[in-house]
Amino acid sequence: MCGIVGYIGYRDAYPIVLKGLKRLEYRGYDSAGIALIDDTKLNVYKKQGKVAALEEFCYGKDVKGHIGIGHTRWATHGEPNDRNAHPHLSNSGKLAIIHNGIIENYAKLKQDLVSKGYVFHSDTDTEVLINFIEDIYTNNAGSTLEEALRIALKRVVGAYCILIVHEDEPEVIYAARKGSPLVIGIGKGEHFLASDATPIIEYTREVVYVNDYEIAIVKPDELILKNLGNERQTPYITKLDMQLGAIEKEGYAHFMLKEIFEQPATIFDCLRGRLDMKDVSITLSGIAAYEQQILAANRIIILACGTSWHAGLVAEYIIEETCRIPVEVEYASEFRYRNPIVKNGDIIIAISQSGETADTIVAIDQAKKNGAIILGVVNAVGSSIARISDAGVYTHSGPEIGVASTKAFTGQLAVLVLAALKLGVDNKTITQERFSYLCYELAAVPDKIKKILEDAPAIKKIAEKYANCQDVLFLGRGYNFPIALEGALKLKEISYIHAEGYPAAEMKHGPIALVDEKLLSVFIATKDPYYEKVISNMQEIKARKGMVLAIVSEGDKYSSNIADDVIIVPETDELIAPLLNVVPLQLLAYYIGVEKGYDVDKPRNLAKSVTVE
Ligand code: AGP
Repeated sequence: MCGIVGYIGYRDAYPIVLKGLKRLEYRGYDSAGIALIDDTKLNVYKKQGKVAALEEFCYGKDVKGHIGIGHTRWATHGEPNDRNAHPHLSNSGKLAIIHNGIIENYAKLKQDLVSKGYVFHSDTDTEVLINFIEDIYTNNAGSTLEEALRIALKRVVGAYCILIVHEDEPEVIYAARKGSPLVIGIGKGEHFLASDATPIIEYTREVVYVNDYEIAIVKPDELILKNLGNERQTPYITKLDMQLGAIEKEGYAHFMLKEIFEQPATIFDCLRGRLDMKDVSITLSGIAAYEQQILAANRIIILACGTSWHAGLVAEYIIEETCRIPVEVEYASEFRYRNPIVKNGDIIIAISQSGETADTIVAIDQAKKNGAIILGVVNAVGSSIARISDAGVYTHSGPEIGVASTKAFTGQLAVLVLAALKLGVDNKTITQERFSYLCYELAAVPDKIKKILEDAPAIKKIAEKYANCQDVLFLGRGYNFPIALEGALKLKEISYIHAEGYPAAEMKHGPIALVDEKLLSVFIATKDPYYEKVISNMQEIKARKGMVLAIVSEGDKYSSNIADDVIIVPETDELIAPLLNVVPLQLLAYYIGVEKGYDVDKPRNLAKSVTVE
């Protein structure tokens, strides 16, 4: 998820655009850049790293001009570095573009442009888009840039919010959106453009939210909106009534809550271009070249830490069921010191949100020395783990600002399910009908999570009821056992309450000694082959006066007669259930942490990326 800022008006554009980029830093970035037109000279400055690095780079340069566009990048195509940073120039050097989104058919467009003699200086889909537009503009004699933009956008597939400036038209910014947000602030003799209202609110509270498939032609005194059919659209002006501080989280109280609520969208983004429900197929180009080696492997070793390790445990159950390949899940920190037995050709799956976790990096290095093949499941594009992996799949969850991992975890699960299903059906270790059924269930996950999130107020009430518990057990069986561990970790991280996760059947082997009327046991008791046994475990707790909160499937009338409280989730296959069942546990931890007055985005003692051993 990148940050977009634009200004056109009577003021100097540079300070406004740069400040706007700083306000968008929460969206995460790995590089930043700015394009300015000083009379008829187009200047482009861009730099890997923080916005501060860009500011330093611009010091002493020509940053004059009353029109400017700026961008903070969260890489999707191409490593984070200077040449992949936005803005990108067309081959003529006269057009500059910034882009938030993904052009899915960029490879074909690039191939055609290369055959026409276009040259490319970056690995990005964005540079392809601006040259596609230029190609139409120059080859359709008499067409305006606006018309060329309209023609181009009808032919690209994907999501975009783009701003374009032309050296020969210093009095206009062209903008368009589909799938990625664009807000235009209405000033007097000036206009402000941005991915959200954060960079705008200090200048004006009158804004227009551009709709999908609309093009905006923005001049200092005029805003024209058109659809791709070249029909004028009336701009609908709304008044911002949120305070600046809140908008940085787009209205959410905390980044953690925002990221929990982003999960329907981030899982949709993760599946997009990979799970095709038209012909019910899965394409994972990131690991396709290694598919035969994976299926021929004697075993798969998963390396990870923390929440990512829990994703690995879920993957163990899924891969063993769908591919019948033995899987071992290792704490990276333990693996690296254990003089592990790794053979040439062993498959390592390294799971990491940040891609910078020192324990995981060193464990990977150890495995690589022994000839293992490294497959990365990473969120941060171009991160260290992404770079040292032989291949991999990005989760596309966008920047995760909250220290406790939520959307990145479900993104990891979505990627691991995609991979396990693809490998399993190709390996014929699951039937085509099971494959198709699970693809439908996976495609339904975003909507089912939306349904769970609608119950957030009820979950908040339950959280407030149990916020003063001193000790909590999380219990599940099968695919839900790793989710019990994840629920316990979330509660520990966010509320500082002591919590432990166990396989539900393990209670009778000792932990049940802890049960009394003060202990809360959270059961994941959704409909699956273990359901009856989990119900028995719940009854064992109730028989000893323990409190029970149960996560249950829609339609389950029985559990509510046993548990003190229930949280209902939509039914799905046990293999897909972890993606749903973790969401109420994320909300439970969040609301308890808030109830206790803690900084849920930056919990004590924690860091977002543990880059030390
Ligand atoms: C997640 O809530 C924790 N903050 C932490 O356990 C995290 O999952 C772990 O440090 C691994 O980080 P990574 O996924 O970036 O490698």
